[in-house]
Amino acid sequence: MGYSGCRKMDVQERDYVQHLFGRHISRGQVRYLRCAHLDIYERDRQGCTVTDAVSGKRFFDCFSSAGCFNVGRGNPKIRETLERALDDWDMGSHRMLSEPKIRFAEKLASLCPGDLKKVVLCATGADACAAAIKLAKGATGRNDVITMDKAYHGHEGFSLSANGKDYYKELFLPLMPGFHVVPFNDLEAVRKVASKDTAAIVLEPVQGEGGIHVATREFMNGLRKLCDELGIMLIFDEVQTGFGRTGKLWGMEHYGLVPDIMFIAKSISGGFYPNGAVVYRDTERLTGYVEQNPLFHSSHSGGSDLGCIVSSAVLDYLAENKVWDHAAEIGARFKEGLMEIWRENSHVVREVRGLGLMIGIEYKYEFLGALMADCLAKQGVWAVYSGNAPQVMRFQIPVTAAMDEVEELLARIRAAVDSMKIYLVLLLPLAKVPLFRMALDNLKVQIIAFNLVRDLEEFVFKYVLKR
Ligand SMILES: Cc1ncc(COP(=O)(O)O)c(C=O)c1O
Repeated sequence: MGYSGCRKMDVQERDYVQHLFGRHISRGQVRYLRCAHLDIYERDRQGCTVTDAVSGKRFFDCFSSAGCFNVGRGNPKIRETLERALDDWDMGSHRMLSEPKIRFAEKLASLCPGDLKKVVLCATGADACAAAIKLAKGATGRNDVITMDKAYHGHEGFSLSANGKDYYKELFLPLMPGFHVVPFNDLEAVRKVASKDTAAIVLEPVQGEGGIHVATREFMNGLRKLCDELGIMLIFDEVQTGFGRTGKLWGMEHYGLVPDIMFIAKSISGGFYPNGAVVYRDTERLTGYVEQNPLFHSSHSGGSDLGCIVSSAVLDYLAENKVWDHAAEIGARFKEGLMEIWRENSHVVREVRGLGLMIGIEYKYEFLGALMADCLAKQGVWAVYSGNAPQVMRFQIPVTAAMDEVEELLARIRAAVDSMKIYLVLLLPLAKVPLFRMALDNLKVQIIAFNLVRDLEEFVFKYVLKR
């Protein structure tokens, strides 16, 4: 059976698909995407871009499904590996030993620094986060975990408890006990909470959903020292910062230090077959714990045979092409281009920051994130703001992007920022009134307002311009 999203669709078909998606999955999600012109249907997924099945318009994918497509959309090498693997393999039984599992674990460990040599196979980022925290708790026999404000490690159990945004957690209280959230890059705050009851400190070297905040060298060094002093496990979440994203293979390499445990997911899938893993130091405490408790973590799809074959191909691809050097080079040009745009718009843009190809633009007003997503979409740029920091628009194109694509993308972003100016004439004075500012920053108000504008636009196109 063919799927309509992979061929050209007309507007009626699109409306019907939206209706069906709303009926069977979520009307809220349709409204959310539609309000910012992000309700496209991905066709022709290639490298940095996707084509909308309805309009035929080419979009730069700056979201990359929050960092899943480092090796590019539809990477032919990875696709070929998966196609070949399908001849002989399936998921495999998660309790059985297999060559793909061994090869993946060996390859992964060989690319990790220091004595990060032992692997726990996992299914997703949240699953790997849970495994990492359970390992730290088990190996130390302690309960407390320190996590960072605005952090994002997933939406389930342990990872939700480690989330740095109350909005996601409030509905589900009480969550796991013993979690303490401290401000990012604030060593004093960590010191105040850390004790001999602390099992782990968990952080992303660069916060993704938190709004592209880069950990400082002093903070990282201080954490390493504190963990060594108190016997705490330092855990790095490399789900977004890994696989060349920041201009090094792993985000941790910017700091020249090694955590006790790290976890990965997303881009290790090659964009084709989900997978995840925890890598931990081969020490008596950690390895000893796993040897004594081999079933401390388990998932039927974690480290599936097909997943491990694909993930091994991804690691080969990254290493053979040294994609991190390429990401550093084009990331530097991309950042420079965004800084120029910032300088021209410093009345609304607070900062441009990031490492490699993990870059964010922070606005002075929260509501501008939503407005920018809309203006970018109209220019053929699919980008969203950070989940835990709506004022930060983030750009995470595949690390395989070419320099001329970066130039084209910059031109489109500049056009989008220019097109925002007309709205700013009205919105900036309104934002000075606290009540209006509150309304403008409110997600529900944004969804209603932008959907009304979209309805009006479609009405004009259909009945006035007859297109
Ligand atoms: C830094 C980070 N860690 C963990 C996760 C959770 O990954 P998953 O969606 O595979 O559960 C995400 C997902 O956005 C993430 O960005």
